[in-house]
Parts: sequence; C-alpha cells; structure tokens
Amino acid sequence: MGPHAARRPAASGIADPYAAALGTGRGPLFLHCADGRLLPLDVERWCSVPDAADRSVLRRCKGAVLDVGCGPGRMAAGLLRRGHRALGIDIHPGAVRHTRAAGGRALRRSVFGRLPGEGGWHTALLLDGSIGIGGDPAALLVRLAEVVAPHGLLLAEATGEDDDERMAVRMCDGHGRCGAPFPWARLGLRALAAVAAETPWSLEETWQQGSRAFAALRREG
Ligand SMILES: C[S@@+](CC[C@H](N)C(=O)[O-])C[C@H]1O[C@@H](n2cnc3c(N)ncnc32)[C@H](O)[C@@H]1O
Repeated sequence: MGPHAARRPAASGIADPYAAALGTGRGPLFLHCADGRLLPLDVERWCSVPDAADRSVLRRCKGAVLDVGCGPGRMAAGLLRRGHRALGIDIHPGAVRHTRAAGGRALRRSVFGRLPGEGGWHTALLLDGSIGIGGDPAALLVRLAEVVAPHGLLLAEATGEDDDERMAVRMCDGHGRCGAPFPWARLGLRALAAVAAETPWSLEETWQQGSRAFAALRREG
C-alpha cells in the first residue's frame, strides 16, 4: 500500500486515530470527506520543528500570539523560544499534551468558548488547515475579531489554490478506523480573501513558501 492509500472507513465503531497519530508522531492520517475523498494530513510535519514555511509565519508574528487549533504545538513552542508570549489552544487533549511536552504553553479550549486574554492578543494563527475549524470560516473570522486586540493580526494558512468548500469529515487512519464526523472547511487564498471581506478583517498580504500559501489579515479597528 502506498503512503496515500488507505482502506475505506469501517462501517461502525468510533476510534480516535488523531490521538494515536499524535502519540507516535506519525501517520497515516486522513480527512475522509462525505463524498469519499481521502485527504492526507501531514502529522510528521506537525510533530516536527518549524520548517521554512513555518518560520515565514513566525517572523511575521507580533507581540502576544494565540495559536488556534495548535495541534501538537511546534509553533506554540517556537514562539516561546523566540521570546513571544504565546498560547496554543486545542480541543484535543493529546494535542495539548504534545504541545506542553514540546515546550509550549497550551490549554484545552474551543476557540468558540471563553479564552484567556480575549480582546488582547496581538496575533492569532490559523495554520495547517485550522481555517476549517467549525466548518464556517466567516463565523471563525468574526469570532477571532473578538479575540485579538484592535488592529491585531491574523496569520492564516490557505489550503489548495481553488478550494472553497464546507463539508462533513472524519479523521481516519490507514486501516479504516475513523473518528466521529465533524464540520470542516477548506479555503484557497481567493476564497479566504472573499470570506474575509464579509468580516472585520482586511487582507494585508499574501505569500507563498514552497507548496504552502498564507494570508496576513488586519483587524479593522
Ligand atoms: C488541521 S489541525 C491543525 C494542526 C496544527 N495547526 C499544527 O500546527 O500542527 C486542526 C486542529 O484544530 C483543533 N480544533 C478543532 N476544532 C477546534 C476548536 N473549536 N477550537 C480549537 N481547536 C480546534 C483540532 O483538534 C486540531 O488539532
């Protein structure tokens, strides 16, 4: 079986393949879309140290940074090492554990619940697909406008160039074991700019590093 091949999800039974992948630091791990697509997730990179594309984000961070959907926390740890006040938040206990073990600070919180320092963060991060959190990117951006300080910064990673979709997904391993379905979204830079235009964010910069694409958004007022 090749690296991107996987068995179809088992008919029944809810597993937590994300926890297993975070435990070993390795995939295979996929987003299984309702239409049958299997989108590979790069757990090995998430569990590694910041690469060149990550460093292009770290260089742009200002002040106190909130990493939303921090996953295993390489960015939260990297930010602390660079002298930022930084906090990762994630709903998955394994992600919070991994972030702390990597040297970062993290809390098990949903971005849609109460957060420490609301309205005071200078920068928020949405990386590695976290723009999909909640399945409604406009609602996520509106929520983040409450979380960051006036004129604060949002550094968001886009997905594939022409992506613009909201869907139900499940996380699956390569053996047909899948978690419960949850709402998700995928946005390329164009779609991200269009969504931002409906929210209190203005697009300040876009950039590409290797195969990854990012946008810097500024909170209006
Ligand atoms: C695609 S992963 C992002 C990985 C991460 N940014 C990294 O660098 O490794 C999305 C993360 O968002 C988390 N998540 C999902 N819903 C969330 C929510 N409502 N609030 C906070 N985190 C959430 C998931 O548990 C997962 O770790």
